[in-house]
Amino acid sequence: MTIRGVLALRKRQVLILFVLLGLSEAGPNSVHYSVAEETEIGSFVANLVRDLGLGVEELSSREARVVSDDNEKHLHLNLLTGDLLLNKRLDREELCGSTEPCVLHFQLVLQNPLQFFWAELHIKDINDHSPTFLDKEILLKISESATTGTTFLMESAQDLDIGSNSLQNYTISPNSHFYIKIQDSGYGKIYPELVLDRELDHEEEPELRLILIALDGGSPPRSGTTLVLIKVLDINDNAPEFPQKLYEAQILEDTPIGSWIITITAKDLDAGYYGKISYMFFHASEDIRKTFEINPTSGEVHLRSSLDFEVIQSYIINIQATDGGGLSEKCTLLITVIDINDNAPEVTMSSITKIIPENASETLVALFSVRDQDTGENGRTVCSIQDDLPFLLKPTFKNFFTVVSEKALDREVRAEYNITITVTDMGTPRLKTECNITVLVSDVNDNAPAFTQTSYTLFVRENNSPALHIGSVSATDRDAGANAQVTYSLLPPQDPQLPLASLVSINADNGQLFALRALDYEALRVLEFGVGAVDRGSPALSSQALVRVLVLDANDNSPFVLYPLQNGSAPCTELVPRAAEPGYLVSKVVAVDGDSGQNAWLSYQLLKATEPGLFSVWAHNGEVRTARLLSERDAAKHRLLVLVKDNGEPPLSASVTLHVLLVDGFSQPYLPLPEAAADAAQADPLTVYLVIALASVSSLFLFSVLAFIAVRLCRRNGAAWVGGCSVAEGHFSGHLVDVGGTGTLSQIYQSEVRLMGGTGTDEFKFLKPIIPNLSVHDTDRNIEESENFRNSFGFNIQ
Ligand SMILES: *[C@@H]1O[C@H](CO)[C@@H](O)[C@H](O)[C@H]1NC(C)=O
Ligand SMILES: *[C@@H]1O[C@H](CO)[C@@H](O)[C@H](O)[C@H]1NC(C)=O
Ligand SMILES: *[C@@H]1O[C@H](CO)[C@@H](O)[C@H](O)[C@H]1NC(C)=O
Ligand SMILES: *[C@@H]1O[C@H](CO)[C@@H](O)[C@H](O)[C@H]1NC(C)=O
Ligand SMILES: *[C@@H]1O[C@H](CO)[C@@H](O)[C@H](O)[C@H]1NC(C)=O
Repeated sequence: MTIRGVLALRKRQVLILFVLLGLSEAGPNSVHYSVAEETEIGSFVANLVRDLGLGVEELSSREARVVSDDNEKHLHLNLLTGDLLLNKRLDREELCGSTEPCVLHFQLVLQNPLQFFWAELHIKDINDHSPTFLDKEILLKISESATTGTTFLMESAQDLDIGSNSLQNYTISPNSHFYIKIQDSGYGKIYPELVLDRELDHEEEPELRLILIALDGGSPPRSGTTLVLIKVLDINDNAPEFPQKLYEAQILEDTPIGSWIITITAKDLDAGYYGKISYMFFHASEDIRKTFEINPTSGEVHLRSSLDFEVIQSYIINIQATDGGGLSEKCTLLITVIDINDNAPEVTMSSITKIIPENASETLVALFSVRDQDTGENGRTVCSIQDDLPFLLKPTFKNFFTVVSEKALDREVRAEYNITITVTDMGTPRLKTECNITVLVSDVNDNAPAFTQTSYTLFVRENNSPALHIGSVSATDRDAGANAQVTYSLLPPQDPQLPLASLVSINADNGQLFALRALDYEALRVLEFGVGAVDRGSPALSSQALVRVLVLDANDNSPFVLYPLQNGSAPCTELVPRAAEPGYLVSKVVAVDGDSGQNAWLSYQLLKATEPGLFSVWAHNGEVRTARLLSERDAAKHRLLVLVKDNGEPPLSASVTLHVLLVDGFSQPYLPLPEAAADAAQADPLTVYLVIALASVSSLFLFSVLAFIAVRLCRRNGAAWVGGCSVAEGHFSGHLVDVGGTGTLSQIYQSEVRLMGGTGTDEFKFLKPIIPNLSVHDTDRNIEESENFRNSFGFNIQ
């Protein structure tokens, strides 16, 4: 029983006592009236005169008055009519509260005689009060975990009316979670209970606003309302939730560190701490953890270290979101790295042949592979080498290439090739890689040594010192190394008889030529031989050249007098008639010189005479003539000493003694020499061909031969002329003296000396030597030499 209940009970007990007392006092005379509460002032209640059986006049005379128990003037008695009228509005609730019935006791008091009439006024309830709740709002906190059927006691409403006008029913505004169950306290009082009909969900409806309506039983019924605010208390019944299961992001591989990539957010329907989400990588590999980071509260994913498409192209990251209550959910983030052209092509050499032989064609020089770690166009490569080289770039298997020599190479043209392999990718920007390989061409002995000249002409003066360096030959070989090392040698002479090896030698290494002994121009004017050059290749190659050694003359021979003989057994004596005209040709000194050229040009002079002035000697031809008319006084016998001198440097000379005997008798008219010589020259030029056999024997032998010829001539002329002795006119040609049978004279050399007499001119001419097997190409030169001789040595006499 509530306190309120106890108070109500006591009031009721008091009321009961009062009623019992009242009834006992009122006795049988008590009259009952009733009036509805809140009836207008002045409303008629009863007519006491009629009801009590009194006269109207009595009321005034006996000073009638109505007295209430509570001394309140609720009622007014009209003394003229006896009508009892309401003096006030009567409020039942004010007068009686919840007491029922609500009775107002009053007395009608009359004086003279004093008389009491007991009466009671029943005040009837009208429904003038609505049920009211004490609070305008009722807050109810209900956990969302509350199960259906759970009841929540609600505050009761109050209605001051009574009976059917009092509170009769409660209802709740329509909703899907609660209904009202009316509970009876057992004392006629009801109270409402809120019953959970369907489970609450904080996340769905965190609070409900319901209106609790209290209804009374009046007609029409009155109602009162209060707001029931239901806060649905959250429990962690929701895990975080990702809007997507899979997130995808693409980033360039050169994205700067720290860049934002994506933000992942999960939702948690729970509130507060239970709904607070933190993010983390779930079971992430080391790679992921060092490359990315996620902000635990915001879910922003940032790049932590640089990416490399070539290492990892994509990352699959599991992200876990956990709420404050420990519930979690996962999603997957797929990060795709986009390639940028950050890798140059790479060239990997598998094999390089650095040296290839020059005669080999289509030789593999290099085998290499190409790759570019980028993808797409960034990784597509183009490979090339220079196109001006005799090499071909050939694609082979997959990304392998070969560089092959296109044809046989020639080391002598080019011994080294720098091949630049250029690989370019097709990305933007284009990246290029160069790789240089050097190919050396190794030598093959494909070049013979080559002499700098096909023939060499060397000059030396005769009587050289032995082992004199007379010149060099040189050959070069375009090959390399041993293939280019040249060795010189003398070739065997064509004539096996020529003792070449004893005359010259060659330095095998440098081609220097040496005379092994003194050469003798008079014995050997020209020496021709072949030299060979051979390289050290395998097989060796060789070549040859011709060497001509022209021996230069030195004045090493004195003039030799052929006529007259000095120490013959029969010395010549020239006979001169005393009647001879001046200029009579007495004799002619004939001399030769073993040398050549200037060294052999002779001049004559009268050195001594028995009688000076009688004879004169012609300097250029050795003719001895009378200088004046002879007379009887001139002695018969004369001796003339004639000096013959050559033009060498220094000059060498010889002297000859001429015996002249003046005789009487006939005198042959003598033609002055120039005319005679001119005639003779026209008819049959005074030409003396001396056929001189030169050999490698001493000149003495030659001179003996010449002496022999001269003696023969002297004798023959002596027979033709009277006492005349002279060198013969005519020519001796083609005399080949071959003494080679002994084996000492191996070669025959011919030489012509022509003494020519022309009109007004006398001229020595040294004709070209006649040398067998003379090389053609030297002919011109020899002719020139002849001309030179003529110019140098020829002289004219007018
Ligand atoms: C109370 O009101 C409800 C709904 O208006 C009604 O169904 C119910 O019968 C009423 N109860 C009483 C005791 O009048
Ligand atoms: C290249 O030269 C070498 C040496 O002379 C020889 O042995 C080889 O047969 C040659 N090769 C060709 C292809 O001519
Ligand atoms: C090849 O390259 C090397 C080194 O760079 C250089 O010394 C040489 O001269 C080059 N040869 C040619 C033929 O270009
Ligand atoms: C390759 O050779 C070329 C031409 O000689 C030169 O310009 C380049 O620098 C070289 N490259 C390398 C990597 O040596
Ligand atoms: C002739 O005399 C010369 C010297 O005057 C001499 O050398 C030579 O041997 C002699 N000849 C002969 C054949 O007697």
